[in-house]
Amino acid sequence: FHVEWDMVTAEKGGYDSFMLKEIHEQPQAVRETMGARIDQEHKRVILPELKMSNADLAKYDRIYIVACGTSMHAGLVGKDVIEKWTRVPVEVAVASEFRYRDPIYTDNTLMIVISQSGETADTLAALREAKKSNVTVLAITNVVGSSVAREADEVLFTWAGPEVAVASTKAYTSQVVALYLFALYLAQVKGTLAAAEVAEVVDHLQDIPAKIASLLEDAEQVRRFAESTKGVNSLFFIGRSLDYAVSLEGSLKLKEISYIHSEAYPAGELKHGTLALIEDNVPVVALATQPDIYEKMVSNIVEVKARGARVLGFAIEGDTDLAKSVDEVIYLPSTLPMLTPILTVIPLQLLSYFASVARGLDVDKPRNLAKSVTVE
Ligand code: G6P
Repeated sequence: FHVEWDMVTAEKGGYDSFMLKEIHEQPQAVRETMGARIDQEHKRVILPELKMSNADLAKYDRIYIVACGTSMHAGLVGKDVIEKWTRVPVEVAVASEFRYRDPIYTDNTLMIVISQSGETADTLAALREAKKSNVTVLAITNVVGSSVAREADEVLFTWAGPEVAVASTKAYTSQVVALYLFALYLAQVKGTLAAAEVAEVVDHLQDIPAKIASLLEDAEQVRRFAESTKGVNSLFFIGRSLDYAVSLEGSLKLKEISYIHSEAYPAGELKHGTLALIEDNVPVVALATQPDIYEKMVSNIVEVKARGARVLGFAIEGDTDLAKSVDEVIYLPSTLPMLTPILTVIPLQLLSYFASVARGLDVDKPRNLAKSVTVE
């Protein structure tokens, strides 16, 4: 017994939980996942592991992204990025729904499945259904030799290293990076981005690990906010476009490990129901990182403030306006708007971690949840 306990402690590498360790491993996980896939000289993406030819890849004009949980949330970021850079329409679906649907496949449909473990029963079943219909399946997974990796036609591995905590963190950011790389590669092949545009994204991508590290160094404000939610029953996350996709992940993390009821809402949709739940001192995390809908987002923040919400805003450094409309602001390092999700999620992960710790819960092993759900 004694030896086993010591081994676990050793595996946590000085952190009090696997989740905190894995949160801190993200600069490395993201760097490894980019790794050799960036051609430094020409500032473009290379994916030598793809077996299909560029001509085959170029023909896809419709993509399904299918996954569960946090992996599905990575897919939502992937959807916006692929559509923006390649103009290929993407539909994201939860695997347990998708597997029982009658999807509309054409000869030019590509399916992307995302799974950290590569063993999630519903994701695997969706993959098998697609393969029965002769649809090409590309997998993004973290586990070499997993069922998903073996059965998919093409595999892009995330190189996050083993993830032990039930709540996924470094797998998510690595999946998002893999999706950025795939989207850029597809854009190169289809010619939808100019070489200079690809190079600009690549430059910004390479700065991401250092920016994640800087967010991790400065967790005090998030910790204080998390501790202030100790007696709270419900918490809302609001955002628009990519900020909404990240809100869903922030809300899931919080529910998973702190058991605080929370909802993520597209901020423009608040007026169709959720505003009724906003009253004095209800905490709202409001993400305002996307410049094209910034003003709209601020209006939505003003609406929740007017109903008494306590608002933690997220803004890009240099933003001097948001502070006027919210109670507190977390500033994120500046990068391209499309790349911001990978930074926004870091303080959200820390928020759920600190909220769980403040409630004295087992961060790594939340009740009723499993790391890998291999049964339906
Ligand atoms: C479980 C885990 C989640 C994970 C989901 C999908 O619910 O608790 O953290 O996101 O499965 O897992 P996968 O291994 O397919 O990414």
